[in-house]
Amino acid sequence: MKRFVVLLTVVLMVAALFVSCGPAKPAKPNIGITIYKFDDNFMSIVRNNIDNLAKAVGEDKLAYSIQDGQGDQAKQNDLIDQFLTKGATALALNMVEPASASVVIGKAQAKKVPVVFFNREPDAAEMAKYANAYYVGAKAQQSGTFEGEIVAEYWKANPGADKNKDGKLQYVMLLGDPANTDAKYRTEFSIKAVEAAGIVVDKLAEDTAMWQTGEAQNKMQAWLSKFGDKIEVVFANNDAMSIGAINALKAAGYFKGKKYMPVVGVDAIPEALDALAQGTLLGTVLNDADRQGKATFDLAYSLAQGKPAATDVAPLADAQNNPDPKGKYIWVPYVKVTKDNFTQFKK
Ligand code: GAL
Ligand code: CA
Repeated sequence: MKRFVVLLTVVLMVAALFVSCGPAKPAKPNIGITIYKFDDNFMSIVRNNIDNLAKAVGEDKLAYSIQDGQGDQAKQNDLIDQFLTKGATALALNMVEPASASVVIGKAQAKKVPVVFFNREPDAAEMAKYANAYYVGAKAQQSGTFEGEIVAEYWKANPGADKNKDGKLQYVMLLGDPANTDAKYRTEFSIKAVEAAGIVVDKLAEDTAMWQTGEAQNKMQAWLSKFGDKIEVVFANNDAMSIGAINALKAAGYFKGKKYMPVVGVDAIPEALDALAQGTLLGTVLNDADRQGKATFDLAYSLAQGKPAATDVAPLADAQNNPDPKGKYIWVPYVKVTKDNFTQFKK
């Protein structure tokens, strides 16, 4: 009997050993996602799109977490470290400071975890260091060009737009985060497009409102008291700020009777489409949150499962803007939005 008990014990121990050391189950795909700041109008739309797509896959097939970088790179680095220790099999990162991507790339590479950056583009040289680093975004230059073209067209069609009749276009420019390439290129290329149309410009003022409505409203209010109707056009690097400018203009009596100011922005967020309907916004540029969210999610999910990068993403590519859909970059095209076509972007 004693012998039997010993034998049974041994058998059970060996069996237990087999169970615990059996072939490892493949880990459930796990995506760590962080947004530079939850309190950002446009990025909230992108975030919700990613969240909905991830939810639709189902908890049994995918683990994921979306965290707020709170505009603080140190905090965001901690979040990324946590993703990696908790077993992320892919990262989807909207960096607070794209210049900090190199550190993140190093950590991800050490753990062989693929990284999809989105919306805030890291340096190409950093991207090149890691074969499994990708970027989903839009060409900021294109959005700037579109903004400028909308203004040039308006200027040419409306001789009265040159309020002081000096043959020059006096403008103010509301900038996004100055460290952001979208802000930099939109500022540069919007003016380039106006000049390319043969219009001479005269910059009255330019300042950052950090992509935000409230700050933009304050800046615009100050410019209105300083320059008043010397301002002939308002450029904003995004619509959260174009809406802020419009709020200040409304408070100063614009958009009533003949008092008008052309304002242009980028993103085509719902508030901007409403402003287009009301005639307070001259034009905007669609920053395609649906396609950017989908491309980011599809790519990250594919990589998180250990599949090749382009599997589910290639159909999003279009030949003109993304000639290399199997490469490391996925470019989502911008679209010009004016009173002629805005209804098609309403949801
Ligand atoms: C831009 C967008 C802005 C802001 C920014 C954040 O593409 O137009 O509204 O969201 O990204 O990086
Ligand atoms: Ca003028």
